[in-house]
Amino acid sequence: MTVNQWDATQYNERFSFIWQYGSGLLELLEPQPGERILDLGCGTGHLTARIAESGAEVIGMDHSAEMIQTAQQTYPEIEFHQSDATSFSFNEPFDAVFSNAVLHWVRPPERAIERIRDALKPGGRFVAELGGRGNVEGVVSALVAELERHGVPDARDRNPWYFPSIGEYAALLEHHGLEPSLARLYERLTLLQGGEDGLTGWLEMFGDPFFSGVDAATRQTVIAAMSDRLRPTMYRDGSWYADYRRLQVVARRGGKPSR
Ligand code: BEZ
Repeated sequence: MTVNQWDATQYNERFSFIWQYGSGLLELLEPQPGERILDLGCGTGHLTARIAESGAEVIGMDHSAEMIQTAQQTYPEIEFHQSDATSFSFNEPFDAVFSNAVLHWVRPPERAIERIRDALKPGGRFVAELGGRGNVEGVVSALVAELERHGVPDARDRNPWYFPSIGEYAALLEHHGLEPSLARLYERLTLLQGGEDGLTGWLEMFGDPFFSGVDAATRQTVIAAMSDRLRPTMYRDGSWYADYRRLQVVARRGGKPSR
C-alpha cells in the first residue's frame, strides 16, 4: 500500500517541483499518438495532461482520492482512477506505464512491479523515476538522530521510504519479467520552496510517519534541532536544499515489442 494522503493544494503550489522535474522523464517516455499509457501515481494530473498532449490515450491513477478529485476537476477530458499501486488492474493492457516520484512510497515494491508487468502489453515499456539509494540521506540522518535524542522509540524503523540502488531495482525488475534497458542514479540538489520554512513545510508534507505518536512540542523541538544540524550544509541564501538522489529506469515486458 502507499503510505500517505497528501494535500492536493499544497502539492500543486508548494511542491510543484515534483511534477515540474518530471518533464525530463517524459522525454524518456516518448509518448506516441494512439498509444495507451498509464500514469501511475498521477497526483493532480499535470504530467498526465502533458502525456495526453502527445495524442496518446492516457489514464491517470493515484492512491489518493483527493488528488484524483483535483486532477479530474482540472482536466475533465482525461480519465482518472483511484487505485492502489499494489493491487490495481485494468481490462485493457497498456503500451507504457509511466511513474514519477511515487514508487518509493509503495511497499512491497515487488507487488507494484508485478501489477505494472501485468498491466503492460508484451513488449510494453515501464518508464519511472523514484528516489534512489542515498536519497535525502542527510535529512533522514539528522531527523532520526534528533528523534532518538528526544527519546522517540524506534526512530530508524519509522522510515517509510524505499530508495533502491540500480542493482537492486534492476534485479527486482528482471525477476518479475521486466527487462531494464536503462538505469541511472543521479544527484539532484532540490530547492524546498518556502524560504526559511522550506524544511519544516517539507517535513509536514512528507515526514508524518516519523512523528506518529510524537506530541506537538517534541515535534517542534526535534525539527528546530535538526534544522540547526542541517543549516551549515543545506541552507543557502534564504532557502533550504535537500540532498535528493533519483533513480530513473526504462524496462520492457518480455514478448513482441508493441512499437
Ligand atoms: C522524493 O521524491 O524523492 C521524495 C519525496 C518525499 C519524501 C522522500 C523522497
